[in-house]
Amino acid sequence: MIKTTYDFAGKVALITGASSGIGRATALGFAANGATVVLADIDADRGEAVRQEIENAGGSAVFHQSDMTDPSQIDALFGMIKHRFPRLDYAHNNVGFSWGQGLLDISIEDWNRTIDLCLKSPFLCMQHEVRMMRETGGGAIVNTASMAGVRYAEPANAAYSAAKAGVIHMTAHVAVRHAADKIRVNAVSPGLVRTEAITKLMTADQEKALASETQPIGRSVLPEEIAASVLWLCSDGAAMVTGENIRVAGGGQI
Ligand SMILES: NC(=O)c1ccc[n+]([C@@H]2O[C@H](COP(=O)([O-])OP(=O)(O)OC[C@H]3O[C@@H](n4cnc5c(N)ncnc54)[C@H](O)[C@@H]3O)[C@@H](O)[C@H]2O)c1
Repeated sequence: MIKTTYDFAGKVALITGASSGIGRATALGFAANGATVVLADIDADRGEAVRQEIENAGGSAVFHQSDMTDPSQIDALFGMIKHRFPRLDYAHNNVGFSWGQGLLDISIEDWNRTIDLCLKSPFLCMQHEVRMMRETGGGAIVNTASMAGVRYAEPANAAYSAAKAGVIHMTAHVAVRHAADKIRVNAVSPGLVRTEAITKLMTADQEKALASETQPIGRSVLPEEIAASVLWLCSDGAAMVTGENIRVAGGGQI
């Protein structure tokens, strides 16, 4: 874990897609800085393992199994949060995946499941989050976008690129509309990050080659390096930062 020192004691943070990769790293980071974390994920075994890891380290965490594309399950997650906690201070809307098809290859089913996971989920979450945060005087939201939503020419990702570009624009919209509610909303756009989403798709050598070709720093991003940006965006140090999209991509093409 990268050493960060924020005072999140007494704060409550929600992380979606918290059972692995970037979401897990963010959850560990919030907990190490004193926040109580709510872990939401479809994968209960691994989510419980993250909860246990946080509690073993002296932190406080709750895991809630939820398919974050299903509106009724999202309603149930926020119902649980309202029941158990007096407030929600931070949210990292992070679920997402690319099934990697271009315009002529993608089926309507794959288009829909990509949009549901990458765009509809943060939209539905933000409706709940903004309502909760408004009632308790504000908060900070970070959405995981992607460099695939920044670059114009992303060859293999028709739906994913469109969804992630949508996340970046929706982030700016919500940021401007709810700044007066003291809610800050930002996005992070990772480049190639070493998580299971990537290690399932390619060998370590392929990953290394892709990282050195596309990211001038010459290596993949670590999940902890994305988490570090999320934590900073939620901290008081970022009090005047809202509506931004922070690229964490080792200088990858913009
Ligand atoms: N890894 C990369 O190179 C990379 C690059 C750019 C953007 N991203 C984005 O970062 C985010 C996290 O990706 P990651 O690389 O950590 O992936 P990951 O596969 O390691 O983690 C994703 C998590 O989301 C959960 N999940 C998947 N579908 C779900 C659903 N319907 N409901 C609830 N949980 C669900 C999975 O169980 C898993 O725990 C995604 O939005 C992804 O698009 C990743």
